[in-house]
Amino acid sequence: MALLVPHVLFSCMVLILGLSASVDSVDYFRRRPPRGRPPCHCSDATLCDPIKTTPKKEIHVFSVDGPNWKDYFWDNITTVAVQEGFDPELLCHAHSKGVRVTVWGYFSVQTLFNESARNRWVEDTVNYAVNNFIDGYNIDFEFPLLTSQAPVLTAMIKQTKDAFKKALPYSVVTLDSSYSSNCTLFGRCYDYLAISKIVDYIVIMAYDELDLVGLKGMANAPLNRTRQGIDDFLRAGVSPSKLVVAVPWYGYDFTCSVLNEDDVCYYKLGGWRQQQYGNIMKLLANNSTTGRKWSKEYGSPYFDYKDMGSGETHQLWYDDPSSLALRYQLAAEKQLYGVSVYHADTLDYSTNKTAVNETKAMWDAFVREY
Ligand SMILES: *[C@@H]1O[C@H](CO)[C@@H](O)[C@H](O)[C@H]1NC(C)=O
Ligand SMILES: *[C@@H]1O[C@H](CO)[C@@H](O)[C@H](O)[C@H]1NC(C)=O
Ligand SMILES: *[C@@H]1O[C@H](CO)[C@@H](O)[C@H](O)[C@H]1NC(C)=O
Ligand SMILES: *[C@@H]1O[C@H](CO)[C@@H](O)[C@H](O)[C@H]1NC(C)=O
Ligand SMILES: *[C@@H]1O[C@H](CO)[C@@H](O)[C@H](O)[C@H]1NC(C)=O
Ligand SMILES: *[C@@H]1O[C@H](CO)[C@@H](O)[C@H](O)[C@H]1NC(C)=O
Ligand SMILES: *[C@@H]1O[C@H](CO)[C@@H](O)[C@H](O)[C@H]1NC(C)=O
Ligand SMILES: *[C@@H]1O[C@H](CO)[C@@H](O)[C@H](O)[C@H]1NC(C)=O
Repeated sequence: MALLVPHVLFSCMVLILGLSASVDSVDYFRRRPPRGRPPCHCSDATLCDPIKTTPKKEIHVFSVDGPNWKDYFWDNITTVAVQEGFDPELLCHAHSKGVRVTVWGYFSVQTLFNESARNRWVEDTVNYAVNNFIDGYNIDFEFPLLTSQAPVLTAMIKQTKDAFKKALPYSVVTLDSSYSSNCTLFGRCYDYLAISKIVDYIVIMAYDELDLVGLKGMANAPLNRTRQGIDDFLRAGVSPSKLVVAVPWYGYDFTCSVLNEDDVCYYKLGGWRQQQYGNIMKLLANNSTTGRKWSKEYGSPYFDYKDMGSGETHQLWYDDPSSLALRYQLAAEKQLYGVSVYHADTLDYSTNKTAVNETKAMWDAFVREY
């Protein structure tokens, strides 16, 4: 997913073994799991049943093992993509709301080009899904490939989709992609058109679109680039009904070596870091020297602040309900299958009244504007 987010793969294969105290033995025998599948851990065993409906549109959320999942807007979303090792109770809750739970993760390039490793990965991944009552898999493969290597990826995605369909007929398999399908941008010369016909949908990651070697502070997801990126997929022949656009709930914080009179922040190589929305709102309230400013060029807000520790000036680019609304509306205008956010745990879920309002405004815009 986003740069710098560590991927934890197969390190926490949480197999839920043993009977949950709340599942009585009659229920257990009636719902005896097939071939060693563990019994359902939910208080109501029907909550482990797969979600069988296909939503008319996707309201898709990436979750990063935050403790705050109970505060998501469960009544308004359709899919939550979690990481392995997620809280098993999340699945019970999601299913009680009719929300699909998929796991997001990836395979390495070595695995991709090794047939036995490939088969093993698919088998392990499907087994994990079966044993944990998961509704599908979100493939977050983000490695460069040559055009000549693309068919191997397409075939692996098909193998994954076929194996999931066989084991879990109602499951979905989806792929995350960079913001544009142009292979020159990230060297990911994948066959998106072929892939789009295999997967349930492609999640366009419409963030990290900035030039991080440009050395001038700028927006995470310039609106024009997001639009260009979507158009690139459509131009490649991908149906809008196979596209879900994911927007950022985090920003980029640049340490300015020079801040000129036009409020342009020049930063040194590596002089940036990501900030989560909840923290951005605190910096805006407590530390900003400019207040919220709006960039017409990028369609995103930003502000400057002074770090009290180092005395350095920072410029922080981010997205808030009004800038995100433009992107949700863009998805609607292009008639895409859905919208998504990366990620739900960047918000401040504390009981501070200001935080409660800000967090609600983010969710409201997400579920309302598309
Ligand atoms: C291919 O994968 C298998 C199974 O993971 C492994 O044992 C083998 O060493 C790999 N082969 C190569 C050439 O890396
Ligand atoms: C982005 O879009 C705005 C409004 O449509 C336009 O005025 C501006 O020139 C565009 N910027 C770039 C860099 O394309
Ligand atoms: C992708 O390539 C097309 C055709 O060359 C170009 O029009 C478009 O602007 C490119 N997209 C991006 C995001 O650079
Ligand atoms: C901002 O100030 C409020 C109280 O004035 C405090 O609750 C909050 O933690 C502060 N945030 C930071 C980042 O210092
Ligand atoms: C809540 O957060 C806001 C903004 O960070 C701050 O101004 C306010 O003092 C905080 N309230 C409490 C009770 O901590
Ligand atoms: C922001 O302001 C708060 C409250 O004044 C202070 O405690 C905190 O250290 C400041 N943060 C930074 C990064 O300077
Ligand atoms: C939160 O929002 C409500 C409704 O919009 C408003 O009445 C209230 O003043 C807000 N509270 C804070 C602390 O911003
Ligand atoms: C979100 O769910 C709540 C509770 O079911 C409902 O009242 C509200 O209308 C929904 N919002 C949208 C935009 O669908």
